[in-house]
Parts: sequence; C-alpha cells; structure tokens
Amino acid sequence: MKGIVLAGGSGTRLRPLTTITSKHLLPVYNKPMVYYPLSVLMLAGIREILLISTPEHLPGFRALLGDGSRLGLRLSYAVQTAPRGLADALLVGGEFVGDDPLALILGDNVFYGHELPSVLRDEVGKLDGCTVFGYPVADPERYGVAVTGEEGRLVDIEEKPARPRSNLAVTGLYLYDNVALRYAAELTPSARGELEITDLNRRFLAEGRARLVNLGRGTAWLDTGTPDSLLEAGVFVQVLEKRQGVQIACLEEVAYRMGYIDDHGLRELIGQVGPVTEEGRYLVRVLEAAI
Ligand code: G1P
Repeated sequence: MKGIVLAGGSGTRLRPLTTITSKHLLPVYNKPMVYYPLSVLMLAGIREILLISTPEHLPGFRALLGDGSRLGLRLSYAVQTAPRGLADALLVGGEFVGDDPLALILGDNVFYGHELPSVLRDEVGKLDGCTVFGYPVADPERYGVAVTGEEGRLVDIEEKPARPRSNLAVTGLYLYDNVALRYAAELTPSARGELEITDLNRRFLAEGRARLVNLGRGTAWLDTGTPDSLLEAGVFVQVLEKRQGVQIACLEEVAYRMGYIDDHGLRELIGQVGPVTEEGRYLVRVLEAAI
C-alpha cells in the first residue's frame, strides 16, 4: 500500500502564523505538525509515501524530510497547483500510486491511541473498497459526518451538514482500493469548485463497499485548524509526553520500532541530531531499550 499526505491549502484560519509558512510545518508542541500524520502511515506499515503541498511550501517539506531514506522510507513530493479539493490528491498522486491500494491522510490530522497501529494494520489487511475512520465529536457540523444504521453499519456520509444526523465525524484518514483513482477522475466539482473526498467515499458507499471503523473514546483525534485548537493539541502532546516520558510521533523512534532502520541506522540518526540534545537523549534511551 502507498501513502499520501496532503499538506496543501492556505491555512487562512491560522494567519498570520501561516503567512509565510505552511500550516503543516507549524509546531505541535515539539514537532512539526506533519510528523503526526506521517507517523500514522508509518505505524500502519506504509513506507512509500508521497507528500503533496503547494508550489510555495513544498521546498520546506523536502528540506525537512528529504528522500526519507534515513528513516527507512521512500518519500516523494508533488505539487498541487491550486486548492482543488481533497480528492484531487488522488489525481496528483495517480502515477505515484500506480496499481496499488492507498492510504490518504490529511497533513493536519493528529491521532493518538495505543490501539491505533494494530487497528490500522488490521484494516489495511482486509481493505475492500474504502475504509474511513469515525470519531465522536461535539461539533460534527464542521466535518464529514457518518450516518450509521444497525450495528454501526455505514448508511450515509454527509459533508458539513447543517443538521448532523450523528455525532460521528469522518476523520482525515482514508484507505482505498486502487479503483479510487478512476473514481476520483470521474468526480464532478462541488458547488465550491472542489473535488470532495465525501463524494468519492459516497461512490464506494453506493456500491456497498465503504466501511466505517469507529475509533471511539479510547483514541484522540485532534483539530489543529485554529490558534486555540493548535495550542490545545500541543498541550495534549506535552502533557502525555511529560507524564509518560515517551514521545508521540517521533519519526526516528517509529522507524526503529517498526524495523525500518536497525541499531546502526538509529545510531547514525542520533549522531545527526546530536546526542546531547533532548531529541538525541531520547533516542539514546530508545536504543538502549530503556523505554
Ligand atoms: C475535510 C473533509 C471532511 C473531514 C475533515 C477531517 O474537511 O472534507 O469530510 O471530516 O477534513 O479533518 P476540511 O477540514 O478540509 O474542511
């Protein structure tokens, strides 16, 4: 399975923070925002990843992450020249995806949960059509909303409905069969001129091949789209990291624990970040199996 991180858009609600920087490079406590969705793909077992951003911001991501080889990944980059909607990522990334299934994750989605990696790997293994991940929220009208029937069966998905029929938001992580590339190409733009991810998901729904996994209360899915929610997400990460002494979305650690790099690779990374920096000291503890 290939992975796509969509890190485009202009982040207007975060101006002036986003006047010269991509929203997805802003800090969520001690890491750039994009580390969080990237770590989710890595934890799902995905190592070939395309990052899509604007022509203006793409160089920043490339400088930050490079070709991914130091993390045992194959990272590539593509430009989205205009904000044509989330489903446009499948058109931009078509060649990269080739004949494989894919996971699309939005570059501003922060997930945290002990069970999440195993849930994701399980879902990747049994993918048939499209799998979306639902999360109960207090303000569903801001999101794609899942309507479920008996035993949680997915009945409908509505994009930002004025009157949500449930409290189950559809998060920004989607698993698709390869046929999604063709379906995305066949979408017609919505009233706001965008290729809506919800329309793509509805296409699978109409075929009876869309599945919803409710992440439920045991997982955190955090918003980062406004100054308040960005700060709150940072505080959430800070509280957990300080309390437990472990890091969330530390890409070097994830790469090591997933077996993408070995002891030698991690030692090299420690050398690069500097063994006396906070990050380096943390990675030394990971290497020494102290955590
Ligand atoms: C997008 C999707 C929406 C989804 C949300 C998750 O909305 O259109 O269905 O619930 O991402 O982050 P946006 O945040 O682009 O308004």
